[in-house]
Amino acid sequence: MLDLRELRVPVVGAPMAGGPTTPALAAAVTEAGGLGFLAAGYRGGDALAADLEAARALTSGPLGVNLFLVAPFEADPAAVDAYRRAIEPEATRLGAALGEPRWDDDDWERKLEVVLDTRPEVVSFTFGCPSADALRRLADRNVLTAVTVTTVAEARSAVARGAASLAVQGPEAGGHRGTWDLEAEPDGTPLLELLAAVVAAVPVPVVAGGGIADAAAVAGVLDTGAVAAQVGTAYLLAGEAGTRPVHRAALRDPSTAETGVTRAYTGRWARGLVNRFMTEHRDAPPGYPQLHHLTAPLRAAAAAAGDAQVAHLWAGTGHASVREGSAAEITAALTP
Ligand SMILES: Cc1cc2nc3c(=O)[nH]c(=O)nc-3n(C[C@H](O)[C@H](O)[C@H](O)COP(=O)(O)O)c2cc1C
Repeated sequence: MLDLRELRVPVVGAPMAGGPTTPALAAAVTEAGGLGFLAAGYRGGDALAADLEAARALTSGPLGVNLFLVAPFEADPAAVDAYRRAIEPEATRLGAALGEPRWDDDDWERKLEVVLDTRPEVVSFTFGCPSADALRRLADRNVLTAVTVTTVAEARSAVARGAASLAVQGPEAGGHRGTWDLEAEPDGTPLLELLAAVVAAVPVPVVAGGGIADAAAVAGVLDTGAVAAQVGTAYLLAGEAGTRPVHRAALRDPSTAETGVTRAYTGRWARGLVNRFMTEHRDAPPGYPQLHHLTAPLRAAAAAAGDAQVAHLWAGTGHASVREGSAAEITAALTP
């Protein structure tokens, strides 16, 4: 089984579903000495298997796969309907029809089968913790499991269930907060403080991420007890990344000075560059993935139109330090 302490470079290229992660990006991070991750979220099982094959063709080093674990959630129909009416004018303006606010499990069983069959070196989970049985089946196949946690209580519970390692995610992180309880107000404890508390509470290796954008910040989490840093935003402008043009342009624009957290796009808290849509829809109700499906066509139309005031622009608090370059150059700049 992979020992994360043996990575040549203590950097995990965070899985970034929805476009930024490509097989080429994951493989390039691994080739640079770190651990590249494929993002299985929103992908079907066959697409995931094809991604793995494509990445395997580019590297013989270790690869991770990240799966969403979507808990059943009944969104309040009246609240979702009110929200639909609030955002409808945006959709009309962009010539898009809003989607169906349905629940689904992101094809969990099929993707679990794919990773059990293909055995990537690491499989991580976000939004929840799989059953002890699923964790054991992966471990039996020599796959290192990693569960994303945002509190000490989640960390203890993941380890009690059999997680072999943890990905501690601080509130600085770009993209969705991995908090297991969709309705809970996300914990605001800064990464280093949260990491120190988790390391003291559990005996397994811990990777830490959120707002890490340079080698000094990577060294900071290693000094606090992490075995590696998980870095997402810093790779968004990598040549190998599939980051959309509207997202790349916003990251390069010095006037987009701030990030904030919002539920407006998907019904689950996520951090991104602040824009008009986030500001105008602060009261979006909880409901993941219902709101994700509702807004998907609107977000696609906004991205296609290059409308950065409506498109979602996930980014962590370190966004101002992102640099252009190959994943190898970015990884080298992150190496303490
Ligand atoms: C665009 C984007 C997409 C993300 N998608 C995922 C994902 O699919 N699965 C996951 O576990 N984390 C995802 N994350 C969160 C990362 O795993 C990680 O926690 C975060 O990138 C670390 O903070 P940073 O972005 O400041 O480096 C995403 C982050 C970003 C920026």
